[in-house]
Amino acid sequence: CGIVGYLGHRPALPILLEGLRRLEYRGYDSAGVALGRDGRLLVRKAAVRVSELTRLTANLAGSTTGIAHTRWATHGPATATNAHPHTDSGRRIAVVHNGIIENATALRATLSASGVRLVSDTDSEVLAHLIAAAAARGGTLTESVRTALADVEGTYGLLVLDAERPDVLVAARHGSPLVLGLGDREMFVASDLAALVRHTQQVIYLEDGELATVRADGYETGSGAAREPTVVEDLPADYELGGYPDYMAKEIAEQPEAAERVLRGRLDERLGTARLDGLRLTARELRGIRRVKFLGCGSAYYAGQIGAGLVEELARVPADAEPAAEFRYRNPVVDPHCLYVAVSQSGETADTLATVEELRRKGGRVAGAVNVVGSAIARECDSGVFLHAGPEISVASTKAFTNMALSFALLALTLGRVRDLSLGEGRRIAAGLAALPELIGRVLAEEDRVASLAGRFADAAHVFFLGRVRGWPVAREGAQKLKEISYVHAEAYQSSELKHGPLALVDPAMPSVVLVPDDDLAAKNLGTIEQVKARGGPVVAVTTADLPLPQADEVVRLPSAGPELDPILMTIPLQMLAYHVARKLGRDIDKPRNLAKSVTVE
Ligand code: G6P
Repeated sequence: CGIVGYLGHRPALPILLEGLRRLEYRGYDSAGVALGRDGRLLVRKAAVRVSELTRLTANLAGSTTGIAHTRWATHGPATATNAHPHTDSGRRIAVVHNGIIENATALRATLSASGVRLVSDTDSEVLAHLIAAAAARGGTLTESVRTALADVEGTYGLLVLDAERPDVLVAARHGSPLVLGLGDREMFVASDLAALVRHTQQVIYLEDGELATVRADGYETGSGAAREPTVVEDLPADYELGGYPDYMAKEIAEQPEAAERVLRGRLDERLGTARLDGLRLTARELRGIRRVKFLGCGSAYYAGQIGAGLVEELARVPADAEPAAEFRYRNPVVDPHCLYVAVSQSGETADTLATVEELRRKGGRVAGAVNVVGSAIARECDSGVFLHAGPEISVASTKAFTNMALSFALLALTLGRVRDLSLGEGRRIAAGLAALPELIGRVLAEEDRVASLAGRFADAAHVFFLGRVRGWPVAREGAQKLKEISYVHAEAYQSSELKHGPLALVDPAMPSVVLVPDDDLAAKNLGTIEQVKARGGPVVAVTTADLPLPQADEVVRLPSAGPELDPILMTIPLQMLAYHVARKLGRDIDKPRNLAKSVTVE
């Protein structure tokens, strides 16, 4: 979900609505604003997109303080009542909240018993009532928020407006991010930078457990001296569409430059190795790593699977990937000689963050592979690799995924070269990596060819993505992309598993995408194509190999960066395929139904 707040000398409403538009990728089930004016709260909220909220608020004006929210429903369906801001019964206090109040049921019962009427199904509403009750007993808004939060268990990024004191907003962070933006006699509060960079480059990331009292001319956190603001590098243009029809198209197209950024300064082609200073590991410590485990959710997990393959191949260190939540809930054996890599574009995914915390508690060595600087996971891991993909707005991950895989190739090369990987092999891999940005550009040039295949999939009810070994995580990510943005049902299988069950589903109406990397398993992959064809299934082969593939109905040919790195290239046409299928079906590409960019709740 997205939070934005403003306090200053300009009308708050347009700033809040514009901020919400920027945050809409965090959730888009419903949206709302609350303004403080003449001792009253003006609240508008509905189960609508921000564009519609703009229409609903056309007659609201005249306040220079307000808070706003765009929601991804967790507790209770997307309705106007469940939308934020929530208020108390006297409509004095308005709150917007990200996170989950774990003892909400108990708090609701206590509030009801004391005569409070709760109107929504949300956990968040209790916060408004608790704060209002504390405010009624006197004291500052900051004190009231602190008092109320003493009874609350769970996570929150919280922003509070008191109609009686519209010259102040109170922001509190516990497990869900909040950033203050410092302006000239005006202050901004948001759950992420996207809503701020148009107004200011000077920001303060609230620390976990911190509570800030925000006024137009500054803020205080009660923790002594004011902190030096962080100057953000993202530019407003990084968040604009810049002529593209949607963010996914833009982010796919940005991959050559993004890839260049993640490699910059990290490759040594002469020595055939890489350096990842952010890992803060000496050669000796690198040599002491006996396992690598990648942990993440969704696409980050699949990128981790590519990473695990690379680490095993190049460094001969056992490696695997696991969904972060599975790992943390099965009480894992934490191995002090294992390098755990927490993989996350946003750096805020609740399950991944909790996994990092659990690992640290148990003495595990955790490095982050994170795109968003200053995010919770980046800060919780004391070492790691930044992905430098630039802001990623479209819900479906593309450039961040590619940069995850690239950074794992760098890690694998680094680990390999302090072990058995020869100078010659190291140089070959390093040269392959150095060539990747350009090769990605050449893959992108195949877009028309890929788009021409979209019709085959748009009409299908089900699609298989088949790959083995290096192609297997690629197949999984390809299926994920198609599912999430086109809503066409897609499943990935290891090609070898096909004959053990799923082959029963193949018929002329069910197309398969078969991945054929340029490696020693190419002959086996041709066999897979034949198995599908023999049952009448249409086949689109995606290959980096220079092989005739007469059995396939369609072939997408890609350049090769060497067998180890080809999975990184092969994912890109699958992104384009999902994109064009979704377009053909008229889907809302950047904001697929039921999903959100960052899942900051469990
Ligand atoms: C959500 C998004 C996915 C993403 C996953 C992990 O489910 O919809 O696209 O892969 O979260 O996000 P992260 O920010 O941790 O990489």
